[in-house]
Amino acid sequence: MVQKLRKNFAYCLGIESTADDFSVGIVSADGKILSNVISAYIPEEGGIHPREAARHHAQVAGEVLERAFQKAGITPKDIAVVAFSQGPGLGPCLRTGATAARALASYLNVPLVGVNHCVAHIEIGKLTEQAKDPVTLYVSGGNTIVAAFEAKRYCVFGETLDIAIGNCLDVFAREAGFKQKEGKPFGAIIEQLATQGKELIPLPYVVKGMDLSFSGLLTAVIQLLHKGKYRLEDLCYSLQEVAFSMLTEVTERALAHTEKPEILLTGGVAANKRLQTMLDSIANEHDAKFSVVPKEFALDNGAMIAWAGMLAFQHGITTSVEESFVRLKWRLEEVHIPWIKEA
Ligand code: ATP
Ligand code: FE2
Repeated sequence: MVQKLRKNFAYCLGIESTADDFSVGIVSADGKILSNVISAYIPEEGGIHPREAARHHAQVAGEVLERAFQKAGITPKDIAVVAFSQGPGLGPCLRTGATAARALASYLNVPLVGVNHCVAHIEIGKLTEQAKDPVTLYVSGGNTIVAAFEAKRYCVFGETLDIAIGNCLDVFAREAGFKQKEGKPFGAIIEQLATQGKELIPLPYVVKGMDLSFSGLLTAVIQLLHKGKYRLEDLCYSLQEVAFSMLTEVTERALAHTEKPEILLTGGVAANKRLQTMLDSIANEHDAKFSVVPKEFALDNGAMIAWAGMLAFQHGITTSVEESFVRLKWRLEEVHIPWIKEA
């Protein structure tokens, strides 16, 4: 009886540490999210310094783990499997999470599962939004990807050829001298100013095939900023209109090509209302359902790693310690996805 109970209550603990967040989540075998504790590293100024972020992760790991157990109301011996983000991401940050995961799995004597960060973003979104087979637009500080399941893989239909959309917004915000007050992200500050924009200033719109490029747009908008000829509100408005139209065009083409019934929007930039409105309108045109992943699960979080780890584990995938080296450039389409049956 005890054995059976333990089996029914098998939990996966997931550790996320690809970039500036260290997070631990715990999920049950049937997809209940018991806890999701996130500790963000906020640099004093400038962008993320990988080694500083890794130092933050090592410092907070013990406390974040403890809080995740407390919130979930379970003890370490209830854990059946430990998952960790194996890539893609920043080397020092990934290695800190992987070390914590290896130590915990070995101490608890349970299997380890290395999870692809991008797969985890898609799977947690499907879980929380009850999406079955979406075209996903994943837009964050480090990623800009349009993906959907096809031929046994999550295929990347479009992606950035240079910088990510979130990075583009953040660099512009720093150039404009914005300060992050009370943890308000730069993208949200731009969004607010953009609502007072009136004039659409011409800026480079670069879509090449299905891929996107934001670096020319960023250079152009920074040049105009320093010329001082335009209102800041109009620059924010124009930057958003152009960048989000590019994202919407590529997402719509992926939707038309795959004929999927849903669009799922995730990542930190998913919080943007203007981007949501643009995607919602193309979803309507194609009779597709549109969902936005709630912020807690759209940002980098441990629960998504736990859930993707649980899916993999339930389908016989585990990662030996020898294979648990971090994979900085691990691409989405390289991941084996046995838990989805082709339609
Ligand atoms: P990843 O490792 O997935 O790339 P990250 O830590 O770089 O993650 P997230 O935390 O997912 O990124 O997202 C942060 C990005 O989201 C930042 O670029 C931030 O400016 C942007 N962002 C947050 N809120 C908004 C908003 N309302 N509008 C536009 N961008 C936003
Ligand atoms: Fe992410």
